[in-house]
Amino acid sequence: MTLVETPFTARIVGCGSFLPARLVTNQELAQRVDTTDDWIVERSGIHQRHMAADGEMTSDLAVAAAREALDHAGLAADEVDLIVVATTTPDQTFPATAVRVQAQLGITHGAAFDVQAVCSGFVYALATADNFLRVGQHRCALVIGAETFTRILDWEDRGTCVLFGDGAGAVVLRAEPTRPGGPGLLSSRLHADGRHHDLLYVDGGPSATGTVGHVRMQGREVFRHAVANLASVVTEILDGHGLAPSDLDWLVPHQANQRILSSTAKKLGLAPSKVVITVGQHANTSAASVPLALDTAVRDGRIQPGHLVLMEAMGGGLTWGACLARW
Ligand code: ACO
Repeated sequence: MTLVETPFTARIVGCGSFLPARLVTNQELAQRVDTTDDWIVERSGIHQRHMAADGEMTSDLAVAAAREALDHAGLAADEVDLIVVATTTPDQTFPATAVRVQAQLGITHGAAFDVQAVCSGFVYALATADNFLRVGQHRCALVIGAETFTRILDWEDRGTCVLFGDGAGAVVLRAEPTRPGGPGLLSSRLHADGRHHDLLYVDGGPSATGTVGHVRMQGREVFRHAVANLASVVTEILDGHGLAPSDLDWLVPHQANQRILSSTAKKLGLAPSKVVITVGQHANTSAASVPLALDTAVRDGRIQPGHLVLMEAMGGGLTWGACLARW
């Protein structure tokens, strides 16, 4: 694929995140599920997860993360003319959670819609917003990954319920005239292979059953595809720029599982110290995980101006993708 220079480049000018107050440790979980702290830590690297309170919705988490991102960018909400929310756990079947976010932020212009690509959702949403900004159709976007994923867990299925958590992360993207070598999103690559639907899905839905349903997963198969697909998409996007993994300053991966993170970094020959890891504290927050990890590394000062930052994710579908940014 040839990279085409466009009049504008979308630059991440602010980021933010939000975690529900309720923290659930593995020990607490082991009181209601047949599991142990040792098993969860050894198989996933997860120590704790946050859980939304009753009545606390995905849009509430998204709005809190968005406000923080706007503050960080020093921008007022009414400068935003595009809102893309990546979520698998929308407030309602319709309208889009993005529209509720828009209303809560007091924005009455521009476009707002959701993107559904499960754990790849943020990367899909970022690529979508990037393409609108590159061509000048929108000027300033809020891209949010937000989930109340614990609402779709089967608490009788110990193979899945220990792995996920709730949260939200957001970035503000602003269109700036393209400047070769300057900061901004350089490119993105998205993939899907629907033949693998049954490896990771929810056994409900408005059309299929009329119910919300619960997460079903073939963990070992998902693991195998994750490492292969993530290493492949990272190589693909870097090749497009004539770059190697060693050129990266930071890899900000989807936080599914410590073992997937380690195996992918090893396959790429990437030093573990260049991988931002938050899965231990947040568990797998699906579409929220990449922006939560990004916000963590920006706020603690690891990600600095000029750094080359690669975000990647894989999720149900299967879907996977990557976005490369010069900070
Ligand atoms: N606590 C204790 N024992 C458990 C638990 C638990 N929570 N869950 C499963 N077990 C038991 C099983 O019953 C089984 O017992 P048995 O041998 O007596 O039958 C044993 O542990 C091994 O089970 P497996 O499912 O084979 O365990 P595995 O080593 O594959 O680990 C895991 C499971 C952690 C899910 C792993 O397959 C994995 O990480 N897969 C990736 C899945 C993932 O990250 N999905 C996230 C969504 S997709 C994404 O975001 C990329």
